[in-house]
Amino acid sequence: MDLLLLEKALLGLFAAVVLSIAVSKLRGKKLRLPPGPLPVPVFGNWLQVGDDLNHRNLTALARKFGEVLLLRMGQRNLVVVSSPSLARDVLHTHGVEFGSRTRNVVFDIFTGEGQDMVFTVYGEHWRKMRRIMTVPFFTNKVVGQYRFGWEDEAGRVVDDVRSHPKAASEGIVLRRRLQLMMYNNMYRIMFDRRFESEDDPLFVKLKALNGERSRLAQSFEYNYGDFIPILRPFLRGYLRLCKQVKDRRLQLFKDYFLEERKKLASTKAADNASLKCAIDHILDAEKKGEINEDNVLYIVENINVAAIETTLWSIEWGIAELVNHPKVQQKLRNELDTVLGPGVQITEPDMHRLPYLQAVIKETLRLRMAIPLLVPHMNLHEAKLGGYDIPAESKILVNAWWLANNPEHWKNPEEFRPERFLEEEAKVEANGNDFKYIPFGVGRRSCPGIILALPILGITIGRLVQNFELLPPPGQDKLDTTEKGGQFSLHILKHSTIVAKPRVF
Ligand code: HEM
Repeated sequence: MDLLLLEKALLGLFAAVVLSIAVSKLRGKKLRLPPGPLPVPVFGNWLQVGDDLNHRNLTALARKFGEVLLLRMGQRNLVVVSSPSLARDVLHTHGVEFGSRTRNVVFDIFTGEGQDMVFTVYGEHWRKMRRIMTVPFFTNKVVGQYRFGWEDEAGRVVDDVRSHPKAASEGIVLRRRLQLMMYNNMYRIMFDRRFESEDDPLFVKLKALNGERSRLAQSFEYNYGDFIPILRPFLRGYLRLCKQVKDRRLQLFKDYFLEERKKLASTKAADNASLKCAIDHILDAEKKGEINEDNVLYIVENINVAAIETTLWSIEWGIAELVNHPKVQQKLRNELDTVLGPGVQITEPDMHRLPYLQAVIKETLRLRMAIPLLVPHMNLHEAKLGGYDIPAESKILVNAWWLANNPEHWKNPEEFRPERFLEEEAKVEANGNDFKYIPFGVGRRSCPGIILALPILGITIGRLVQNFELLPPPGQDKLDTTEKGGQFSLHILKHSTIVAKPRVF
């Protein structure tokens, strides 16, 4: 570290301490703030609670301080919400007040300071982006049109695993093949494109850049520079890397995918509405002047992260739980065999006839929620919550994982037991009809992709269980399901090797 820089930072810190004490003395207005650990000047609670603010650590804090608590992380206020009724207030009753998003130094880079949809503040731009994205991505018509593609991709996974020499003996890292499938599921919708194999150089490049984007954004490593702006010079290297990754990604989306669609759009064939893929509709909106070229790129960026990774993580969790719970796996296979007939491959319209499959998916999303803290919300102005004052521009984390895993609301929540969704929780749906179970959020900023995610999960998990007996690798009786939490994500730490023994029909 540069000594001069260190000296400057220390001086800056000292000045900031003095200034913050002076400002707090001068500030007349007394707010009734939510409870939380006692903050110290400048650092707030950062040194007490540390960097790793994952869903489990935030649950431990909620047990201590209650269902709404405030953490001062350097200069940032972070409010953690941990009860269904307060989640209702944030997401529904006061949904407009809390409907904005916080970003941080890193998300600012990846979203061009909110030129996207997922991370933009609540307002005109968000409304327009959500409207423009709805028809090409988030309707039943899209499901009807693309489900054949998802069934085809899942079928190819089955064929590839069947023909893999090691799958039935030593096992394979199934997730790698499923990742290719998820890219194809979404790239077919976006660009009418697919990648032939895991070795396709373009797929390899894309996957690496998206992976880097996720790692850099979800890491807790950069917290210090975000919480205490005076320390930001130390983050220069990190932010430079983020900028490089962002530039390379957007350039790749542009050069390899968007340009092709633009060229095709200028030919006659593309006038036919039925030949249009999602990005053609988005490019039409650009042509009409509703959005600009950067907005188009950030829509592609959003789908790459919001759609592909979340669904892939959920599939991976579902399979891991099924391997570790062979009785559940067998019960699911029996349902598929009985309802569809042995060897009759599941398709999207079958989903509603398969209640146990639906319960397995719900249970996976409950216990292993891909976005356990939702995407952080924010109140642009000072607001009230649970009788407390919430300072303007607070980051609001709804601990959706804890709502769905709190023993006050769920019977033995630590157990993977899909039956709960057919018995005591039979009325609870994934769309947020009950605030104790909101894996896709609820309200204005809820996940519009639920309409695609649930059938993709059903088709993929259904096909795998129909066609294979899924087992841990030789010498292991369980898969390692250690979690890796991020700024608001949750995935499995180690991608497991899984033995897939083909069934003979
Ligand atoms: C299992 C898969 C998925 C899970 C668990 C999931 C979960 C979530 C959650 C929790 C949120 C934030 C809700 C909030 O902040 O209140 C969200 C937002 C979002 N999701 Fe998903 N999602 C999944 C799949 C998808 C897919 C497939 C797409 C697109 C095709 C998608 C697109 C989006 C978008 C665009 C937003 C931002 C909405 C906004 O800010 O207005 N998601 N998702």
